[in-house]
Amino acid sequence: MSEKLAPGQARAPGHTYQEAILKDASEPPAPFLENSYEFLGDDDIPYTNYTSPEYAEAEMEKMWPRVWQMACRQEHIPEPGDYQVYDIGHLSAIVTRTESMQIKAYINACMHRGTALKSPGDNGYCASFRCPFHGWVYSLDGELIELPEDWDFPHVSRESHSLREILVDTWGGFVFVNFDTGAESLADFLGVLPEHFKEFNIEDRYIETQVCKRLPVNWKAAEEAFMEAYHVKETHAGGRDFSEPVTTYDVYPKNVNRFIHTVGSVNPRMPVPPTEQELMEALWGRRGPDAGDCPQVPEGATARDIYAGVVKQKLGQQYGQDFSHYSTAQTLDSIEYFVFPNFFIFPGLSLPMAYRFRPDPNNPDFSYFDLYFLRPRHPDKAPPPPPETVMLDVGDSYTKAEGLGFLGAVYDQDTDNMAAQTRGFKTCAKGGQTLGNYQEVRIRHLHQRIADYLDA
Ligand code: FES
Ligand SMILES: [Fe+2]
Repeated sequence: MSEKLAPGQARAPGHTYQEAILKDASEPPAPFLENSYEFLGDDDIPYTNYTSPEYAEAEMEKMWPRVWQMACRQEHIPEPGDYQVYDIGHLSAIVTRTESMQIKAYINACMHRGTALKSPGDNGYCASFRCPFHGWVYSLDGELIELPEDWDFPHVSRESHSLREILVDTWGGFVFVNFDTGAESLADFLGVLPEHFKEFNIEDRYIETQVCKRLPVNWKAAEEAFMEAYHVKETHAGGRDFSEPVTTYDVYPKNVNRFIHTVGSVNPRMPVPPTEQELMEALWGRRGPDAGDCPQVPEGATARDIYAGVVKQKLGQQYGQDFSHYSTAQTLDSIEYFVFPNFFIFPGLSLPMAYRFRPDPNNPDFSYFDLYFLRPRHPDKAPPPPPETVMLDVGDSYTKAEGLGFLGAVYDQDTDNMAAQTRGFKTCAKGGQTLGNYQEVRIRHLHQRIADYLDA
């Protein structure tokens, strides 16, 4: 064990992420050069936060109904009458587009006797919402427009029995909902996010792949598997250039945190640093067997800069855009922002994911992971409609979802850890998870934000 510093002072030896990217030939966007780490304490996180049905119920009662959540992308509901159901625990909302192209969201329950109007996860088109039980009909604007045998309902009116609307707003092409009609605005909730994403046109992306997988772990532990790069060396051992990232961990008020880690840069922590040409070959290996010959890195240049140039050019051709203004860090690095409580977005060019996690309402040991790949829209071509969601059960490998490429096997490695954690949570005598102060600060941030709602 190395020499101990005061809690919160410790950082990985070698250079910081910010120092690493200043060695790139291109200038990174200003938010990449910021440090916003905050020491949030070092107490253990109780395992009951993950295993206790009472804790899950408290989250369901006090947190999920009050927070903004990503319900879908705008392209899921491009035309009037398109709808998408968003389910979170026992809550369910219908998100739709009205005749005037407004996006609205309603609680998915008939105002007669409560029947859910649409099935879980359903999506499609309808001219109006018709309840399957007795046939009450609601317009796309949520108004009660047909009441069969209305002679029996003198006490019911359009005013009293139209669908209950919930808050809806958009950012970056995503549609967010909030079941709490008195909640703060989405813009306030997102904090620094829009400012940090100014140089990425997230709204101009389309969904290339969508996958929904049931995971054998509590929703928080599932998220936590993606919040730190500390596990990469052990869990995803194999790619020398990827196994020693240099990472910045940052926490922003109140709902945002991030990591950004380098891809393909020399980490001074490595006992024998790779040469630039070795890094180049490792990066080139990502392109698959048809990549052709690996370029030579000229004297004085870095593999990162050369490889980023190739990526920008190839993706530029593929998507009909000019990405030359993207910095090396924007192009290559693993840039992951988290919006409390369940949304992750990677705005970088090479790793284009968005994640959403949802609890299983009946069992805290399981959760759902919605995974999207977002690609830049070709300016002259209509984007393809969202593809069918690939549904994966607990035992299904991500490699069944072809669109995930080399990441399928990586996600499988993460899933094995999740199942093992769920088993360990139940038998571990210690009572809680011990977190690293720096690399695992985002996990603590998540738990502290949940506690803010549960204690309120
Ligand atoms: S419950 Fe919907 S019409 Fe009766
Ligand atoms: Fe991982």
